[in-house]
Amino acid sequence: MRIRVNGSTRHVDLPADTPTLWALRDGLGVLGPKYGCGVGACGACTSLLDGAPFRPCTTPVGDVGRREITTVEGLSPDGSHPVQRAWAELDVPQCGYCQAGQMMSAAALLRHTPDPTDADIDAALRDNVCRCGTYPRIRAAVHRAAQ
Ligand code: FES
Repeated sequence: MRIRVNGSTRHVDLPADTPTLWALRDGLGVLGPKYGCGVGACGACTSLLDGAPFRPCTTPVGDVGRREITTVEGLSPDGSHPVQRAWAELDVPQCGYCQAGQMMSAAALLRHTPDPTDADIDAALRDNVCRCGTYPRIRAAVHRAAQ
């Protein structure tokens, strides 16, 4: 089947019920979305589907259709997206495992809420878990990206 990923049409030769996370990672080598829980609970795999956050670990690739998948690699190939710049400037990651998912939730938030409050940020990212506890830096980086 064909799916749209980061602006390109890609072919994946997998059963339709394969989780999109494995189509991205194993099928296409798109490694930004991470495997954490596999049940839609941790947010490590968070990517965008037509601009809205979704969980590729619980979305069968056959359900994606012609909608556009955006992973952290697709935010900006050269790292110039405001979220990417803010994350680098504020040195947000500790272990880094969850951060691609955090950034994708942040990017989705800023699309419809360009000047978010702390409460907006906490609500938008509450289902993205960070075991290192980088939440204060994540919140600061979202504010920086909004400037
Ligand atoms: Fe997808 Fe945890 S791996 S939400």
